[in-house]
Amino acid sequence: MAEITAFLLRGLERQEYRGYDSAGLAVDLLQAGSPDQRAIHIVKKTGKVSILSAAVKEDPAIDMALSLDQHIGIAHTRWATHGAPLDGNAHPHTSDPSNQFVVVHNGVLNNYLVLRSYLDGAYALLFKSSHFPDEIIATRRGSPLLIGLKSAQPLRATHVGVDVDVGAPQHPALHMPTARGPGGPGHALSPLRDSLPLLAADARPLPYFIASDPAAIVEHTRSVLYLEDGDVAHIRKEGINIVRTTRSTELSPVRAIQSLELELAQIMKGSFPHFMLKEIFDQPSSSFNTMRGRINFDSYTVTLGGLSSQMDTIRRSRRIVLIGCGTSFHACLASRAVLEELSSVPVYAELASDFVDRRPVIFRDDTYIFVSQSGETADTLQALRYAKSRGALCLGTTNTVGSSIARETTCGVHINAGPEIGVASTKAYTSQVIVLLMIALVLGSDSVALAPRRREIIDELRVLPDKIAEVLKLNEELESLTEHKLLKATNLVLMGRAFQHATCLEGALKIKEIAYLHSEGVQSGELKHGPLALIDEHLPIISIVVPDAFLEKSMNALYQVTARGGRPIIISTTDVDLSSVLAASEATGQASAAAHSASTEALPSSSGVLRSPRVGGTGDPSRTAHPTGTDITLPDEDQLLDQQPISHKLLAAAGGPLQCIRVPRTVDVLQGILTVIPLQLVAYHLAVKRGFNVDFPRNLAKSVTVE
Ligand code: G6P
Repeated sequence: MAEITAFLLRGLERQEYRGYDSAGLAVDLLQAGSPDQRAIHIVKKTGKVSILSAAVKEDPAIDMALSLDQHIGIAHTRWATHGAPLDGNAHPHTSDPSNQFVVVHNGVLNNYLVLRSYLDGAYALLFKSSHFPDEIIATRRGSPLLIGLKSAQPLRATHVGVDVDVGAPQHPALHMPTARGPGGPGHALSPLRDSLPLLAADARPLPYFIASDPAAIVEHTRSVLYLEDGDVAHIRKEGINIVRTTRSTELSPVRAIQSLELELAQIMKGSFPHFMLKEIFDQPSSSFNTMRGRINFDSYTVTLGGLSSQMDTIRRSRRIVLIGCGTSFHACLASRAVLEELSSVPVYAELASDFVDRRPVIFRDDTYIFVSQSGETADTLQALRYAKSRGALCLGTTNTVGSSIARETTCGVHINAGPEIGVASTKAYTSQVIVLLMIALVLGSDSVALAPRRREIIDELRVLPDKIAEVLKLNEELESLTEHKLLKATNLVLMGRAFQHATCLEGALKIKEIAYLHSEGVQSGELKHGPLALIDEHLPIISIVVPDAFLEKSMNALYQVTARGGRPIIISTTDVDLSSVLAASEATGQASAAAHSASTEALPSSSGVLRSPRVGGTGDPSRTAHPTGTDITLPDEDQLLDQQPISHKLLAAAGGPLQCIRVPRTVDVLQGILTVIPLQLVAYHLAVKRGFNVDFPRNLAKSVTVE
């Protein structure tokens, strides 16, 4: 295989985790008999990069491909949104049968009908042409695009009649002219060939790498330059010219050359069979890295340098609104209450897509926090642009330095979880929750009354990585549980309340995403308003019952389920004896459960405690009136005082042993991190045992850069 194709294919493989369903590449071939003549050759295939790779190997024409240092090749993976994933729809696309112009495109041109009159839509485009064999045009709007420069070669900026700022020695930067002159947008490209390079590498040819994700190029260079929306880069041997096609006062005219901190090892699986498992097991260290240098555990201080200039503004906000999609939205939900508690500012969580649809009222003294692992999610980006246009303070929390959300927000906090490759987000979730919690801790730092609460949380953050490591020791037990209790399930309900509601939503999402099992996260308080109708002895249920302020309510929900023959798997904590709480809540729970059951169906005869449905009023076993006139036998005093462990007590209500997964106890606002990890592992094992591709689930992409 030619060096150039091997190179391109490796780059595509590195981006596989982002999700796609076809792949292709275009390279220059030497024309037999005429060494000066070149022709662009395209190979593209539906399916995995390995299929493209096989097609390239079998293609005899590829042997004529020019070497890596002689020309430019382009390649792309396509994730189908419009049009089926067919060979013909795969990229690169070409202008004509002789491939004079070849293009790869990342994004959706929603308004393709009006494109001829005005270029618009979301895109990242690379153009190569047989007319300009050593040159390439790269441009973006909405979709990410970066240029890697071979850092081994010295860079120097050339001042050519425009303002050039090379910045600090390690971080040279480009100031760019704008290409939009009096000729309007149609003339945007014309200055390119006339302008001289702003950046050159001595007299030697400089290798450039153009990609939508740093993972594709990190093994070749650490120096990257992120293009901004509207930038058009002209890349050739002599250097790069970048011009702006839009006059945006929002975007800086500087394109800093940044140093990637990404290590190649971080995007490799190591000894793990899948990225997802590696990332689940990364969590002791990723959570530590999120806190590193930010929390002083001795002085109980939290320093978030990125936010320091805006902290007073945030404290004075009318509202704080957290916005994200998918897992990132769940991190917002998980953190909402503690942010409100410690900031004393009303906090709301919004789904980015719904927010964009509604275009709600925004106050100039609102603070918006945009949460996104990739920093490129189109819905979140649109929400950000809307909030920003209305004058709100916009902060970002991403895992990707240099991402669009990181660049377009006023300031923010990176989660520093390290690259996340598995489509199903795991370590990013736990790190997002930690970052939002750290923001809450900073906001609450000026309150004397909150000092004990802050100390309690910071003390637990200190030991969190160790407690996560303890949870990971449950891996084998969870694998066996998955095998025996969940493998054949067709539906699954996860229930919990307060801080554990987000955990249930996130667990259900993981199971849906990779195990293709319909699963629903239910707020336990909502059980009686609908989901209870689903419960029977066949429906698998996972119930999170942890010793927080809502324990009794959680127990009641559990009784409502067991009373209907439900056989929940319980996730609880190791250190607390729940039996006293069980005893106190048992009568309430059973009576409540029976009251609901009596109105719909007879109780299962196998129930050890509840028999012949009789009467029940919520919370008061002595009340006996009920419209159906049926009865229940309430537990006797001995049963109420029984100090047996939770699984034994529930055994009585459920007619058989219940499985209880126990994680270490931590403070309520962090407990969700320890209870979500078993669910990540359950999702993982379920997907593996069902034979699905854990890291690349069907129909999903890691980074959804289209609305
Ligand atoms: C996609 C991914 C999800 C992710 C969501 C938000 O749907 O498949 O795993 O949670 O995007 O991504 P973000 O990068 O904004 O966190």
